[in-house]
Amino acid sequence: MAEHPAYPVGLRLTGRRVVVLGGGQVAQRRLPALIAAGADILLVSPEATPSVEAMADAGEITWERRGYADGDLADAWYALIATSDPEANERASAEAERHRVWCVRSDDADRATAWTPATGHSEGVTVAVLTTDAKGRDPRHTAAIRDAVVEGLRDGTLVAPHHRTRTPGVALVGGGPGDPDLITVRGRRLLAEADVVIADRLGPRDLLAELPPHVEVIDAAKIPYGRFMAQEAINNALIEHAKQGKSVVRLKGGDPYVFGRGMEELQALTEAGVPCTVVPGISSSVSVPGAAGIPVTHRGVAHEFTVVSGHVAPDDERSLVDWPSLAKLTGTLVVLMGVDKIGRIAETLVANGKSPDTPVALIQEGTTAAQRRVDATLATVAETVVAQEVRPPAVIVIGEVVGVGLPAAR
Ligand SMILES: C[S@@+](CC[C@H](N)C(=O)[O-])C[C@H]1O[C@@H](n2cnc3c(N)ncnc32)[C@H](O)[C@@H]1O
Repeated sequence: MAEHPAYPVGLRLTGRRVVVLGGGQVAQRRLPALIAAGADILLVSPEATPSVEAMADAGEITWERRGYADGDLADAWYALIATSDPEANERASAEAERHRVWCVRSDDADRATAWTPATGHSEGVTVAVLTTDAKGRDPRHTAAIRDAVVEGLRDGTLVAPHHRTRTPGVALVGGGPGDPDLITVRGRRLLAEADVVIADRLGPRDLLAELPPHVEVIDAAKIPYGRFMAQEAINNALIEHAKQGKSVVRLKGGDPYVFGRGMEELQALTEAGVPCTVVPGISSSVSVPGAAGIPVTHRGVAHEFTVVSGHVAPDDERSLVDWPSLAKLTGTLVVLMGVDKIGRIAETLVANGKSPDTPVALIQEGTTAAQRRVDATLATVAETVVAQEVRPPAVIVIGEVVGVGLPAAR
């Protein structure tokens, strides 16, 4: 039997009886995929691990608390034999053969009539890896091949364009704070499939260098806007490229909806009839403090954090931020785009009741090789920013959480 390669097949088990003998670790590992396949699962075993028991409690499987008995496999389409009793395994295996039920054996792959491949999933496909014959069985190797393929598909290093389902349009992708490893798996895959990428200055610029030469990379800041506003010109560029039938990625820093004008772009695209998908990203407001060793909340210290734009000063009539109310909060304030106005912001917070000793940290170019952290207090931050030449992009954290990190992380 083992001289020929196994014949790979996908079993459609919805509503079909699958019998699992033995409720130990093997069953625990295999049951979730059988449940996901919609199988009607009968587990026969005197005992089960707590996880398997939980599946029975949740009604995902039927559990008969007893040992294997002849006849258990009569109605099965497929069986998994994994008891710790070799003699029961043998008898069950013989019954499976009699009833022509394909059967996996955890104790003897050579005698089994079916093997479980190492499987993984990526965006609508199942990757299943089998060794060619029983002698060459090396589960770690097949699992490693599976991991390499699935990871490659997920992170875009293995490019398999969707020829049937790929539709032209725009993906607004949150690229995370800058470290190329901090983009989402979906964002990276869409980037790998793009014909055109329109990128901001912030975000994972290193990823652009990895794109194949045919991909057109456009710097959003350099799109000429003439009689339009810069944002309108970007919207127009997205629409134009998508209407030429291209897959366009709008790569943005952090999350598209956190001070990222993502909704404006989505609205413009929708109005123009261009299909658009939005991929969330890791916002700098949380990840950049974290990269500098600052948790935005901490038990017993801060039960809230508020993210504010500091791009206009508190006394500017365009400001939508209620700074006097923010001064009364006890939690953490995270200020984005606030380097230029931090002096006025600190003054306003102190004038409205915040202690001048409140710790402040400024993290410039967080998560990149150039990351730096500068510490101050509300009283000293204006002069510190000048003296230390802190420049945008920086995230400013105001509050007691600034002091709770491990000294090594500061
Ligand atoms: C226009 S906002 C975009 C925010 C972005 N959508 C997000 O969710 O992170 C730009 C501001 O985000 C902050 N920022 C973004 N990336 C940063 C980084 N790597 N290091 C420090 N600040 C960053 C800075 O305050 C910068 O001025």
